[in-house]
Amino acid sequence: MLKKHKSNLITTTVNKKSKLRTAKGRKLSSTKWLNRHINDPYVALAKQRGYRSRAAFKLIEIDDCFNFISKASSCIVDLGSSPGSWLQVILERKQYKTHLIGIDLTQIKTIEGIKFFCRDFMNTDVAQELQHIIINLCTANLHTNRKIENSKPLSTTHVDLVLSDLAPFTSGFKDNDQIRMIDLAKNALYFAKQNLKIGGNFITKIFTCNQQQDLVNEMNSCFKKTKLFKPKASYSNSTEIFIVAQNFFIWISLLNSDKTKFTTNFILFLISNLVLDELLYNIVQYC
Ligand SMILES: C[S@@+](CC[C@H](N)C(=O)[O-])C[C@H]1O[C@@H](n2cnc3c(N)ncnc32)[C@H](O)[C@@H]1O
Repeated sequence: MLKKHKSNLITTTVNKKSKLRTAKGRKLSSTKWLNRHINDPYVALAKQRGYRSRAAFKLIEIDDCFNFISKASSCIVDLGSSPGSWLQVILERKQYKTHLIGIDLTQIKTIEGIKFFCRDFMNTDVAQELQHIIINLCTANLHTNRKIENSKPLSTTHVDLVLSDLAPFTSGFKDNDQIRMIDLAKNALYFAKQNLKIGGNFITKIFTCNQQQDLVNEMNSCFKKTKLFKPKASYSNSTEIFIVAQNFFIWISLLNSDKTKFTTNFILFLISNLVLDELLYNIVQYC
């Protein structure tokens, strides 16, 4: 049975466990997975609410806490979006005519209002292609896209929120899987740095491991705050955890680099990226 808490989070109480009657030639690991699946209240609730997977509840919990989706006014990118439950949650929660872009190796059933690309995100050409698509999409209706009058100033980098639920197909070798996972997260961070607006937010999944602190440090250098978040919907025996990075602020990363790099980056940054009123707006926000 599932109860909805005051905090909007979902707590679970399982009454009676069902068990598979026969193993039908399945491997022990498949039988275990199926037993967990049929007894999982989040699976039942996902079915009831029409979500494509239980993963929806992880994003619901994160967003109940940080409230990123409703604030996004231009573009949200969901990396690793198949079968599409995060996309469904974003569609339900977004408040503006925000563009929503998904990418995955695996095709998804069409969802209206979403641009989905069935590609390998780890391919650098694909990340660049995605960047061009975002720029074209967002600049096409730069002036018509703002639904609510008092929305934030327009940005030349367009993405408000990058989400990454990317996960490798697990090999069963823990070290291998962790390395592949952290690699995906690093690429997602790189993509976020290239595409996020100042003040934008980034969420990525990782499997806890030794290299995770390096990733958090890198995030701390360009986001105002980072937090680790383990949703209740994430299995307690899984090493999965989310890093939530808030308020992208390129100045922090520029200030952390050496002087010459800082000057060059600073000039390049001003030429290529900044609209002055937005700069002032963001300085005020940051202070
Ligand atoms: C946990 S699932 C995502 C579930 C999704 N957030 C949802 O709510 O339906 C992880 C996804 O990452 C995708 N993935 C892994 N490596 C990828 C890559 N290099 N490029 C694109 N997608 C990738 C997998 O295909 C898989 O569908």
